[in-house]
Amino acid sequence: MGFRSLISFGMVAIPIGATLAVLLGLDAHRSATGQTPLFQDNSVSTDTYCQKAYGITPASTGQQYTLNPNQWGWDGKEGGLCMNVTQFNNNTYPTPMTAPQFSVTWQYPQGPETQPVHAFPNIKIDGEGSLFPAAIGTIKSIPVDVEWTYGLGTEAANTTDIPSMAAANVNTNVAIDMFLDPDMNSAQSTTQSKYEIMVWLGTIGAATQPIGLAQGALATEIVNGTTFNLYFGQNGQGQYVLTWSAATTVENFVGDIAPLVKGVTTLGLPNSPGADNYLGYMGLGSEALWTPQEVTFDVSYLSMDVKT
Ligand SMILES: *[C@@H]1O[C@H](CO)[C@@H](O)[C@H](O)[C@H]1NC(C)=O
Ligand SMILES: *[C@@H]1O[C@H](CO)[C@@H](O)[C@H](O)[C@H]1NC(C)=O
Ligand SMILES: *[C@@H]1O[C@H](CO)[C@@H](O)[C@H](O)[C@H]1NC(C)=O
Ligand SMILES: *[C@@H]1O[C@H](CO)[C@@H](O)[C@H](O)[C@H]1NC(C)=O
Repeated sequence: MGFRSLISFGMVAIPIGATLAVLLGLDAHRSATGQTPLFQDNSVSTDTYCQKAYGITPASTGQQYTLNPNQWGWDGKEGGLCMNVTQFNNNTYPTPMTAPQFSVTWQYPQGPETQPVHAFPNIKIDGEGSLFPAAIGTIKSIPVDVEWTYGLGTEAANTTDIPSMAAANVNTNVAIDMFLDPDMNSAQSTTQSKYEIMVWLGTIGAATQPIGLAQGALATEIVNGTTFNLYFGQNGQGQYVLTWSAATTVENFVGDIAPLVKGVTTLGLPNSPGADNYLGYMGLGSEALWTPQEVTFDVSYLSMDVKT
């Protein structure tokens, strides 16, 4: 009887195998011709990361990004931060430049005036060796499309209410962060590069001030309807920081920020960058200073690119 069962199994197994092979071949054909594969996992998963610093690089068929809770100024005692990262398990986001969605919930006590920032939870483009380093003169555009909210509590807010947050003594911002240096390698290091360029899309709380605010704005640029004022100064690590701060909060920003990056290379001020620099890094996040109650920063849509 055992012998007979084996034969039966074999006879049944061949048709199953053949069917599977046909389906897999068909699936490969569908993928190759841009159709949805039959066995694609279109589920979405959200994972939570509360580590002090941790690189999260969801697989993508398009632009590759790395996220990081980056609690660089936190002593690990009071307060804390968790970052939720939502990844598409088919590795295919709405456009080739679209990033995974993320949100950050945090709370820290007020720190010393010399070091008020506890964290910069962020997402960066993994462009080393491909997009970066990019010689300033070769950059054609830096398209950014972002939609974010900030709110009190542990849920993603539907809209950002800056006055309520400031009244609740929340201090933070929403910023695009870039680094420049005349040396190609240093430009790709957030600590070794000579210049940092930030583009602030939101400024929350009286303590959240760009470096050089007291000296007044050095320049003004309008990008797709948003007015940005430029401030210039030096940070505690000796880097020269150029901050383009939006005159009003812009929760949904779509525009080319290349004029802001190129604009700082023609200022001609002592210690301002020249046109001989390289852009080596680009990210977006929130500088978390302090807040008495938990707040949530949510980025429901983001795409960034550097086109040369
Ligand atoms: C991938 O998954 C996402 C999320 O479910 C879905 O919106 C998208 O259409 C899928 N992409 C493709 C190419 O099937
Ligand atoms: C982040 O994920 C945790 C765990 O699933 C969840 O409790 C929390 O509500 C999420 N936060 C946001 C802002 O969606
Ligand atoms: C956002 O709006 C939805 C629908 O109106 C509501 O259910 C939800 O509570 C709101 N979220 C917050 C954080 O206010
Ligand atoms: C300007 O902003 C609008 C609204 O967000 C957007 O639809 C449009 O594409 C943007 N234009 C450019 C040139 O980026």
